[in-house]
Amino acid sequence: MKIAFFDTKDFDKPSFLKYGEENGISFTFYETKLTADTAGLARGYDGVCVFVNDTLDAPAIDKLYALGVKVIALRCAGYNNVDLARCFGKIHVLRVPAYSPYAVAEHTMALLLTSVRRIHKAYNRTKEFNFSLSGLTGFDLHGKTVGVIGTGKIGKVFINICQGFGMKVLAYDKFPSAEGVEYVPLDRLLRESDVISLHCPLTAETEHIIGAAAVEKLKKGVIILNTSRGALIDAEALLDGIKKRKIGAACLDVYEEESDVFFRDFSGHIMDDDVLARLLSMPNVIVTSHQAFLTEEALDNIAETTVRNLITFFGGGICENELCYKCGNVETCMKERKERCF
Ligand code: NAI
Repeated sequence: MKIAFFDTKDFDKPSFLKYGEENGISFTFYETKLTADTAGLARGYDGVCVFVNDTLDAPAIDKLYALGVKVIALRCAGYNNVDLARCFGKIHVLRVPAYSPYAVAEHTMALLLTSVRRIHKAYNRTKEFNFSLSGLTGFDLHGKTVGVIGTGKIGKVFINICQGFGMKVLAYDKFPSAEGVEYVPLDRLLRESDVISLHCPLTAETEHIIGAAAVEKLKKGVIILNTSRGALIDAEALLDGIKKRKIGAACLDVYEEESDVFFRDFSGHIMDDDVLARLLSMPNVIVTSHQAFLTEEALDNIAETTVRNLITFFGGGICENELCYKCGNVETCMKERKERCF
């Protein structure tokens, strides 16, 4: 079984080589992202393995299909970058639904603590032997209200962590499933939360869930956390809210236009993205470049599940992690599927 692996980073190789060798899968690692322009590299391969910023739009899918590629193995949970409808009847799509909700939830709390206790500033100061405390006053998380949007695997772990800090939790989810949590309408969550954390997937419904109208409703000084998907937030509305002093801080592991910049070294270059540059110029904005998942445990789980998905699929079985798009509702369909969609 030959798989073309796109958008490869050094940290991907050890675990994929290990599980690949153990299971007779040969990976060819390409640094380039998969797009319609680079899809030709998949010629002669049974499948492609892709990540969050590869572009599996209709032209890319048509090219892969023409080359005889049978499967797209996502090594991530989110699938907003894949045109599933276009894949139907042509190429099967597999994903890794969970690899470590702890990795993402813990990173979210790390960002929050960094922001409220000004750790990023203190780190730079003491490195320069500046031991002044001026401007480093933070606030207690204990007793504050955190609004969690999306209470699935990651949202639930984050809620647990916040409860451990003695925070009051308000939650909003289209399909509430967490026990012992107060679910409220989105409007109330926006108005009452001191901290808001996004843990829902990016869909047509959730795109810009934090946009200009939502920013109007926010409590003054709120901290916005996004470790889910960039386009959940309208970056210009966020910037505007920060400039108007409505939003007290923003911690972002994801950004709307991240595919053009994240995972690459732009130091020494001119930053073309004015919104990102302006956000980064703010003292109360912390950006990490989609690294919330990046723990040893998560990398191992990602490789193991991806290889297991491929073995099941090419062995002719029903892969529980195949994204089924036949009946329109991917999430429900996955739970009830008894046979391959096509
Ligand atoms: P999950 O599927 O377990 O939970 C998602 C939750 O969002 C579910 O409870 C679902 O009912 C809810 N939801 C769906 N539509 C909604 C809507 N319209 N409004 C409100 N809630 C809605 O997913 P999981 O594993 O918790 O991951 C959440 C997101 O985290 C993923 O979609 C992905 O985008 C992101 N992620 C980010 C990573 C990073 O490295 N920064 C790594 C892994 C995931």
